Amino acid sequence: MRHYFIDRERKIDEFFFFEESFLDVNFKFKSCNDVFSKNEIDEGSKLLIKTFLENVSSDCNSKVLDLGCGYGAIGINLKKHLNDIDLTMSDVVETATNLAETNLEINEVCAKVVTTNLFDNLDEDFDYIVSNPPIKTGKTLLFKFAEDSIKHLKQKGELFVVIRKDLGMESLKNKLKSIYGNCEVVKKNKGFYILKSVKGE
Ligand SMILES: C[S@@+](CC[C@H](N)C(=O)[O-])C[C@H]1O[C@@H](n2cnc3c(N)ncnc32)[C@H](O)[C@@H]1O
Repeated sequence: MRHYFIDRERKIDEFFFFEESFLDVNFKFKSCNDVFSKNEIDEGSKLLIKTFLENVSSDCNSKVLDLGCGYGAIGINLKKHLNDIDLTMSDVVETATNLAETNLEINEVCAKVVTTNLFDNLDEDFDYIVSNPPIKTGKTLLFKFAEDSIKHLKQKGELFVVIRKDLGMESLKNKLKSIYGNCEVVKKNKGFYILKSVKGE
């Protein structure tokens, strides 16, 4: 299977740190070349974070999965604002999950981190799945993610994904409609779309 990059042992000087403020929180992230959006929180991920926070109450204590977490931008942001969520962050690339673990510590929040191809090593069901999903790996993997997501949501559980219009938004929306029976665009900005599907609606 093609990933974003071939994972391998990295030397200490291949890693670096960057700092960024977003939604009134200052973050410091450890990063490295080749991880997605290595120098800043991705614009699409920012829209997803904002939209998710607008859709849940601040005392939300649900089980949340950030699938394809990379170095941890989405999950760590959510946990900073929603202290009570039970958060799992996952990625197929071990360098990414190692960075996510470190970044949780640096930013003083907690989550479970799992290295897994899609849902293979995730045996729980979630109230919410949020994802800036892998697109460059191709439609087969993206559609498998869509198909498997519903099996890992509780009844009435919700999937939030961000995707660019020019990178297959319509086809993912149609796919999610066929799987969930519903899919709405809850937000769009600068070509990024947030799609939401609800299980059993
Ligand atoms: C678009 S990036 C998003 C990264 C991060 N969430 C962010 O917002 O910066 C997609 C992520 O999916 C991961 N990925 C690729 N294939 C995967 C798979 N089969 N299972 C799980 N994650 C995968 C990549 O390693 C990458 O970190």
